[in-house]
Amino acid sequence: MDQTAAPAPQILIESLLAFWADAGVDCLYQDEAIDRIAAGLTLPPRRAEPSPAPMTAAAAGPASADAAKVQADDAIVLARRLAAEAKDLTELAAAIAAFEGCGLRYAGAARQAVFNRGPSDAPVMIIGEGPGEEEDVRGEPFVGRAGQLLDRMIAAAGLTDRVFITNTVFWRPPGNRTPTPEEQKVCAPFVERAIELVSPKILLLLGAASAKAMLKREEGILAMRGRWFEWRSTDESLELPAMPTLHPAFLLRQPAAKKKAWSDLVSLVQRLDRPDRPH
Ligand code: URA
Repeated sequence: MDQTAAPAPQILIESLLAFWADAGVDCLYQDEAIDRIAAGLTLPPRRAEPSPAPMTAAAAGPASADAAKVQADDAIVLARRLAAEAKDLTELAAAIAAFEGCGLRYAGAARQAVFNRGPSDAPVMIIGEGPGEEEDVRGEPFVGRAGQLLDRMIAAAGLTDRVFITNTVFWRPPGNRTPTPEEQKVCAPFVERAIELVSPKILLLLGAASAKAMLKREEGILAMRGRWFEWRSTDESLELPAMPTLHPAFLLRQPAAKKKAWSDLVSLVQRLDRPDRPH
């Protein structure tokens, strides 16, 4: 007789959920809204929510794509106004925390807005993709495993206390997915205002999602990394040299690529410390 007892279904389910949680998947969501009325399905019981979430493009579905576009445009106009009104980084952080125009804030994974760390007069601004789980819990960017690697790279390059760190979006995307270009566009006025207030000499863009959004380019990160680009603000009043490099989360998965990221950092430090003009 076979003595091997099969694990109880509950244990199997718990271990599968632990596996997914480990991989950063801690909620379920879909990009497209389901029209349950048309599909003749019954809705699951609604969870009580503290306040109604503003409709986002993703939640609105294809029938109201125009309305969603108008809402996204309105959110960008509002973000621009709030960002412009912020006189310093404290006011900017408060404006971001109160901003209700980015759908990520209501997407399920986000606990709080995650804006910045590092000195407000840093000569280098590092812009990542968006907060992960650890950042969401602690309210600071790059404090998880990828952030610890980033800190070691910054220290090795002699840049400790010389970098201001932020992201292209300020709320954790569900399941750690890449933020959409629309979500990045809504948050962009706050990123631009942060650049204006900190006034760094150089931008370092971590990963494809950051490089593409900030530079409005479509090449992959391997084609862009290690090259100098000119970043321009929307109204073209600000210009800064910007270098894309590999994201530290990618380096954790592909340690052999650290060489490339290191050579990018070295070239950034050389340009930063150039005696003549840094840009
Ligand atoms: N990855 C990012 O892009 N940003 C963070 O803040 C953390 C991880």
